[in-house]
Amino acid sequence: MNYQAQQIKIAFTGVQVLHGVDFCVKPGEIHGLFGHNGAGKSTLLKILAGVNAHDSGELLLGDRVIRLSSPRDALNQGIACVYQELRLIPGMSVWQNLFLGRELRNKGFLDEVTMRQHTTQVIDEYGLSFHASDLVRDLSHPDKQMLEVIANLDRDARFLFLDEPTTALEGSQAEELLHAVQRIAREKNIGVVLVSHKLDEVLGVCDRATVMCGGKVIYHADKLTLSKAAIVDAIVGDAAVYQASSAKRTAPTESQPVFLSVKHLATSRLKDINLTARQGEILGIYGLAGAGRTRFCRTLYGLETLTGGEVELNGQTYRPSTPAHAIKHHIAYLTEERKKDGFIPNMSSFANATLPILQRFRTLGWVNHHQAESSALAILNRMNTRGTLSGPIKSLSGGNQQKVLFARVIGQNAELVLLDEPTKGVDIGAKADIYKIIYQLAEAGCCVLMVSSEEEELLEVADNIVVFRQGSCDGVTLSASALTPAHLRKAAWSHEEATA
Ligand SMILES: Nc1ncnc2c1ncn2[C@@H]1O[C@H](COP(=O)(O)OP(=O)(O)OP(=O)(O)O)[C@@H](O)[C@H]1O
Ligand SMILES: [Mg+2]
Repeated sequence: MNYQAQQIKIAFTGVQVLHGVDFCVKPGEIHGLFGHNGAGKSTLLKILAGVNAHDSGELLLGDRVIRLSSPRDALNQGIACVYQELRLIPGMSVWQNLFLGRELRNKGFLDEVTMRQHTTQVIDEYGLSFHASDLVRDLSHPDKQMLEVIANLDRDARFLFLDEPTTALEGSQAEELLHAVQRIAREKNIGVVLVSHKLDEVLGVCDRATVMCGGKVIYHADKLTLSKAAIVDAIVGDAAVYQASSAKRTAPTESQPVFLSVKHLATSRLKDINLTARQGEILGIYGLAGAGRTRFCRTLYGLETLTGGEVELNGQTYRPSTPAHAIKHHIAYLTEERKKDGFIPNMSSFANATLPILQRFRTLGWVNHHQAESSALAILNRMNTRGTLSGPIKSLSGGNQQKVLFARVIGQNAELVLLDEPTKGVDIGAKADIYKIIYQLAEAGCCVLMVSSEEEELLEVADNIVVFRQGSCDGVTLSASALTPAHLRKAAWSHEEATA
């Protein structure tokens, strides 16, 4: 029995977002859904999963027309969706989240014992490292993602939609997740729709592919005809030309002054972090998920408490304390979890982009909003940001939200820029533009620290790379031009092997 959308249309506040979309997912298949930021992928999934109503068109389960009034309604029909922004409740435990809304009872009382036991069993089955009683808030982002996926699979889903499930996962973990999903799809005959911008990662498990553009399906291919080149062409269209390797810049030399020096930095979760970065240098930070890269950025930005070690900026001692203090020291930070500590959902995209820099557009007590907006707009345009920028940022697609936050960081004219997964969820056309903007930051003398889990991206963009392992960094700087993805992965795993 297939699940099918026929001629689905929807408009938001007068703007037509889907223009009659046909889509079909079959039991046991993995169907890749691709397209640039704002193409309508998430909107389609939300309609298929009962979150949004549609204006016209039909949903068919087998040959039966169905109407979905809520996600729960969809779930009752075996249709589940994991969204770009996770829905877990942070203050609750893993088992509570797994059983949310379908708690087991025994004689009227919550049957905690059985729910815990079942959760432990599921965690083991998927080979995950957290525990049933852990609070979700304490899990790493990848673990949260895994939990949300298994929570849906555990609810007897026959159709499972995954909206960018691997964006926060590091190479081998993404692969594991995808293979687990593929295995389950085959074994349990579940139809899976996978939305992703990482073609290299997901194409291997896809049986079919559909590409959307401007709210329409513009390309479709079955396994026999699946070609990455054709899919990339369809995604990029004539809007931009995808170039993985733009003109390689020359890395700053030893004569360039050291801007950031970190010695033996420690927090409750990090120990002995050492690194140096020069003015005009793009220093890549690589490591496995959970190696401490995000915590390190957060510590420099004053979001986590420093317990030891020394940090110098431009030869001056810098003691991180609060984000406001960091901004005063000309540090800008692009966070990995945009929803949690990134943006203000109901504020306009312009306001979100210019928030920390409004002071600069102030003359005689007046903020020149117009000037602030046009400076933000220039950057947003270069990244092909789509959507109504004067409207609330929450109405933008995931990738476009990321571009707004990126524009905010660029606009700060910082001396030290911390980028945590800057191209997460961004389409392949816009990625090339983001790389160019990062190059320009460095050319202008900025010291850029860039965390990325995509080896190819890091090797492409960074001048030098340091590797984090289990909350530490030995400060050994590797020249990106001398490395391959395999080198990087080996370096990241070496400590695990040594301690195994
Ligand atoms: N609730 C809403 N109100 C207004 N506009 C919306 C709303 N939801 C989506 N849109 C608009 O619909 C368009 C499609 O967005 P959608 O989230 O489906 O894109 P997407 O293909 O998932 O992109 P991405 O790859 O960036 O996640 C965008 O222009 C977005 O701004
Ligand atoms: Mg989306």
